[in-house]
Amino acid sequence: MAIAVTSPQMLADAAELGQSSAQKIILAAQDAADVGGFETADEVLERRKLIGRITSGSKALDELLGGGFESQAIIELYGEFGSGKTQIAHQLAVNVTRPEDEGGLEGETVWIDTENTFRPSRISQMASALELEPSKVLKTIHVARAFNSHHQMLLVDEALKEAEKFPIKLLVVDSMTGHFRAEYIGRGALAERQQLLNKHMHALLRFGDVHNAVICVTNQVLAKPDAFFGDPTRPIGGHIVGHTATFRVYLRKSKGGKRIARLTDSPNLPEGEAVFIVTGDGIID
Ligand SMILES: Nc1ncnc2c1ncn2[C@@H]1O[C@H](COP(=O)(O)OP(=O)(O)OP(=O)(O)O)[C@@H](O)[C@H]1O
Ligand SMILES: [Mg+2]
Repeated sequence: MAIAVTSPQMLADAAELGQSSAQKIILAAQDAADVGGFETADEVLERRKLIGRITSGSKALDELLGGGFESQAIIELYGEFGSGKTQIAHQLAVNVTRPEDEGGLEGETVWIDTENTFRPSRISQMASALELEPSKVLKTIHVARAFNSHHQMLLVDEALKEAEKFPIKLLVVDSMTGHFRAEYIGRGALAERQQLLNKHMHALLRFGDVHNAVICVTNQVLAKPDAFFGDPTRPIGGHIVGHTATFRVYLRKSKGGKRIARLTDSPNLPEGEAVFIVTGDGIID
């Protein structure tokens, strides 16, 4: 399925093939995987019935997202430093291990960590708070450090391999844009950066489709305008990330340790806000 839905150019690059060989391989994969062409709307409905949801720990935040973080979708959490992006991702990695009637998907996590902010101790704390065995939960999270944007993109292929061995139902990329922002500086590099981010996002979306998994990515916005142009609260990656992410959630800090999540883009849900807090035990209303 992964090969069937890739582009000839991407397969040619990855496997060092000519474009025409890549094209043939893709056609064969499409036959084998039965990707078909059109579906009728009732078939789409059937497929969407397979969509699962992971609870964030906060009812309000779940409701904002139509019942939790859904599979076959990219949920982008964006906001300034300390707004809770990484904390929510940790909570999802704990909650995904739980049974469906408790807001999980009985699944495991692949975590692509670009800024060395994954903390097993936080996982243990959150797991204990839910009366889960921390050592068991820690075994379900498969973490890889991404050292640069190229490595980060390659790790999505590695994630596909991991998903053959383990029931991966959550893929976290934290932060998705950090390396890209650091490496592609200035207006001249913008087009290339956007093109690569676009490719990366589509690879993630494919992972979500193939494994019926939730894709959670984070994106920092700058509190201070450090650029000469543009809105300082606009997420890095701008339109490319925006159009490929299925749901976009803007997080901000509020008074008394409260955090406000705002759904700014969704294919089927109204814009709205939810309030949650980050505690030692994790994310709660
Ligand atoms: N053990 C804890 N108990 C209570 N609150 C915590 C705990 N750990 C972290 N926090 C809260 O979470 C905040 C950090 O949030 P988080 O790391 O998710 O931010 P972020 O949005 O990922 O920021 P960045 O853009 O810098 O990565 C801390 O400032 C603190 O308020
Ligand atoms: Mg973070």
